Amino acid sequence: MKAIIPAAGLGTRFLPIAKAVPKEMLPLGDKPVIHYVVEEAAAAGFDEILIILSRGKECIRQYFSPNSDLENHLEAAGKQAALETVRRVSSMARIEFAYQEKMRGLGDAVKIGREFIGSEPVFAVLLGDTVMQHSSPLPAMVAAWRSRHKPSVCLEPCPEDRVSRYGVAGGREIGRGVFELSELIEKPAAEKAPRLQSENGTPLSCHAFAARYLFTPDIFDCLEKTTVGFAGEIQLTDAMEQLRQKTGMLGVTWPGKRLDIGSPAGLIEAARALER
Ligand code: UTP
Repeated sequence: MKAIIPAAGLGTRFLPIAKAVPKEMLPLGDKPVIHYVVEEAAAAGFDEILIILSRGKECIRQYFSPNSDLENHLEAAGKQAALETVRRVSSMARIEFAYQEKMRGLGDAVKIGREFIGSEPVFAVLLGDTVMQHSSPLPAMVAAWRSRHKPSVCLEPCPEDRVSRYGVAGGREIGRGVFELSELIEKPAAEKAPRLQSENGTPLSCHAFAARYLFTPDIFDCLEKTTVGFAGEIQLTDAMEQLRQKTGMLGVTWPGKRLDIGSPAGLIEAARALER
């Protein structure tokens, strides 16, 4: 299966380091953040991956490409374990790269993958700056697709005072941890944020999108029709709302936790969480 990993964003919350080091290449232990994202995709069967880059972020491409000089050196020095570590990085998945010319938002970045996805019935999108702790939601999302034939977004509970930072979903539970969505909104004010409901209609807490999506290629037509939205960007959420109206859309919860390293505080929290 195929996946798109958008990693072209300017990462302004990480300036000045993002001037030279993409936030997706910041370390969590001995590996960069995006390594965990590729590993997660590959483990869930998404082993053909398109990473969306922008100018100045070529070290991401370099990281995933074979390095024969280094490999020859390690081989000659008898450093077998290091050699295997290095080779594993470039053999986890078949990775291609494409460039986003202007950072017009996440929706614009996903749109670049249209040709790569081609006629795949379904594909994943994983944000390149978010790591999943404990487990990936992708297997549950694929299972939901297989049983219900609808695209999905991964959802995580979100405190009300933080909903204005995320895409938020409303909808009703139709199976354990699976919701039929009725509304998708980008960065709503707390008082306007939709909520999920349990199967019997009990209101649940607010839930935000958690950086993993499973789309049908219909999303590309929706993105073509999406005009500039919140913050002057092509919002993926606006295209997802169109897709929901066309084919329906599921929300899937999972027992893990999203570690968003888009800000320095997020990176510190993620490093601590993965130590535990
Ligand atoms: P963010 O929403 O965190 O945006 O992107 P950003 O621009 O990278 O960071 P700030 O807000 O300026 O600090 C979430 C993911 O989507 C990618 C980013 O690289 C990140 O992995 N992205 C975002 C793109 O590929 N293109 C875009 O135009 C925007």
